Parts: sequence; C-alpha cells; structure tokens
Amino acid sequence: MTNLEEASLGKITEQPNKPFFFQLSGIHPELPSIEVLSILKGEEFQYKILKEESQFLLVNCSKLAAYQTAKRAAYCRRSVELLYRSEVGSKTTENIAKSISEQIDFGKILQKEDRFKVRVYRIGKAHEEHVSIHLEKAIGDIIWEHTKGEYKGDMKNPTITFIVLFTEKDFFFGRETFSKKKGSFTDRRPDLRPFFKPGTLEPRFARLMVNLSRAKPGEYLLDPFCGPGGILIEGAIIGCKILGSDLDNRMIKGSKKNIDHYSPANNAGFVMSDAKQLPFTNKIKAIATDPPYGRSTSTYGKEIEDLLIQFFQNAKQILQKDGIIAIGMFEEVPLQEIVEKTGFILEHFEKIYIHRSLTRRIGVCRVK
Ligand SMILES: C[S@@+](CC[C@H](N)C(=O)[O-])C[C@H]1O[C@@H](n2cnc3c(N)ncnc32)[C@H](O)[C@@H]1O
Repeated sequence: MTNLEEASLGKITEQPNKPFFFQLSGIHPELPSIEVLSILKGEEFQYKILKEESQFLLVNCSKLAAYQTAKRAAYCRRSVELLYRSEVGSKTTENIAKSISEQIDFGKILQKEDRFKVRVYRIGKAHEEHVSIHLEKAIGDIIWEHTKGEYKGDMKNPTITFIVLFTEKDFFFGRETFSKKKGSFTDRRPDLRPFFKPGTLEPRFARLMVNLSRAKPGEYLLDPFCGPGGILIEGAIIGCKILGSDLDNRMIKGSKKNIDHYSPANNAGFVMSDAKQLPFTNKIKAIATDPPYGRSTSTYGKEIEDLLIQFFQNAKQILQKDGIIAIGMFEEVPLQEIVEKTGFILEHFEKIYIHRSLTRRIGVCRVK
C-alpha cells in the first residue's frame, strides 16, 4: 500500500462497520458479486449483505474491508461509504441535490484542507433523465453554499470524491473509498509478459479465479496446472505465497520468470508434477486453476474427465477443511458429477462469455 493510500484510509483499525456500496462490472450477472463476497470471506472480514441487485452490492463492513476488497476485485469499479439513499421516484434533479444537502452536514465531513469532486454514475441506463453534469453541478453548488465557499471543488486532484449512483429505483450517495483506474491490468497482458505461451489467461480473468478461491494474502495459493503462470502472477501481486506445478518443465521455468518479473519479492515454490499426484504436504486453503481444455480431439473429453477426477481426489488430501478449488473449464466437462464423486460441494457453477466463439465455465468447489 502506498503512503497516499494509507493516508486516505485514515485510522482504519479504529473504524466500526458501516454500510458501503460496491459498483460492479456488468460482464456477468452473478460473478462480480460472488467475487466481492469471496474476497470478504477469504480475508476474514466481518460483513453483512444489506442489498444485492444488478451490478450493485450494499454491505455492512469496515472501511478497510471496503477499500481492500474493491482494490483486489477484478470486476468491481469502486467502493463507496454510504451517506444517504432514497427512491428516485418523481424527484427532479434539483430535488435530488436538495434532499442530499438536507441529510448531510458537509461541514462535518470535509476538513479544512479538503478539495472535493462530485461524480454521478448509473447502473446501465438507470434514470438518464437526471443528466450527470447537471446533478454534479447542483450538488457542488450546494456544498459550496453550505460551507460558505470554504471547501473548494477540484476535478483533477480531489481529496474527497462524492458519488451518486442510480440503480433501478434508488439513488445512493456517498464518499468514495476506492476506484479502479482504467488499464490497471494492462501491463500484465499475456503478450507483454517475459514468457508468453498461447492459452494463458488474461490478467483480469486470472485475478477473478484467484479471488473466487478465497485466497488470503500471506497464505498459500496453488495452481497445479500453472502453465505460464497467469493465475500465479495475480496471486503473487495480492500477496499470497505461491505454489505452482505443471507437467511441462518449460512452463515451470517460464512461470517462474513471469513471477520474478511482476513480484520479485515473492518466494514462489515450483515443482514439475502431474496434477494427479501432487507432491505437496502442506494443508492449503486455496487452489485456483485452469486445466488443459483438449477440445481438439474427440477422445480427449473423456481424458479430461479422468484427469479431473484424479486431480480432485488428490486435491482433497492436501486441502484444509472448507478449502476451495476455483476452476475454469469448457462447457462439456460434467463438473457436478466430478465434484460429487470426489467429496466436494459445488458452490457456484457459472457460464461466462470470453469472446464470440469462446464460452467458459467457472466452478467454485468446497471440500465437504
Ligand atoms: C490452460 S494451461 C494453464 C494456463 C495457466 N492457468 C495460465 O493462466 O497461465 C494448462 C496447463 O496444464 C498443463 N498440464 C496438462 N496436463 C497436466 C497434468 N496432468 N498435470 C499437470 N499439468 C498438466 C499443461 O502443460 C499446461 O501448461
């Protein structure tokens, strides 16, 4: 964490749980919200879901939890401390600004040196009748009037960003805790990594897999089909102790090179191994993986099934109670059956479109 980030969090350890909302990506109806909840669980934050709807999650948690979760999540745009919410109903834009100003004592929230910005977002096309710049200006003017011009607006370098988010029926107003910068995964694109092989995951998708596994910084994360290390790079960046294995020694070497490049301080452990006979003795909590697909031959489908059954049986021996396997695969694989045969519970099984011709399934499996 940089000093600036620490400063913006203030005395986080002393802060009680409050309502925070997460604005989520629309890439999938369920996965972004499952991802946020998986991080909260994995990092053992106390939380309670208050409201869940399309691309929106309202949770009672600490400021640290809201910050850390939004920062870690691949498909979360921002987290915001909730200050006020109301139905939009037939309110005019001016009414919305006025109702916010009546509920909030900006003089108490803003400190002398603060410079603020107001931004309006919406889920899909919710309430486009309230034009963003008009509402932003109306709220900005009210803050200016209330505080007698003491606190300055600053669109470029604000110390506080106020957010209005329109959902289907309501608007939520609050103070932003974290917002994801555009391009935050770009430098790890597969073709920019020191070692590149086709078939590796895009960094955002790899991060999703890590988060779904509920991996915790400081603890082990294993990818037993590590390939060029797409998943492991993301695990190392969030601070996990990385364990990688693969049948192909070139992948082990390449994966190591990639980890050394993006996370030089990580004390990653690699071993050449068949995922059917993993050599690890540690009891680990999280596996995130992306086994070979083998769509190309007709018999390979069955081979994949056998491989996965043996891998799951083996993984059960090294996973802790409640340990998780987050796994990506093609549609044809009967994951429900494999999981039942090998002593796991399939907590989530979601279909996601990668691009026009490519659909993948993601399973989150917990040791029974
Ligand atoms: C799809 S790639 C993994 C990509 C990786 N998750 C990433 O994002 O960079 C699958 C990998 O599984 C490895 N593999 C295939 N069969 C295996 C087995 N039985 N045990 C371990 N690794 C195996 C292949 O060598 C390949 O590197």
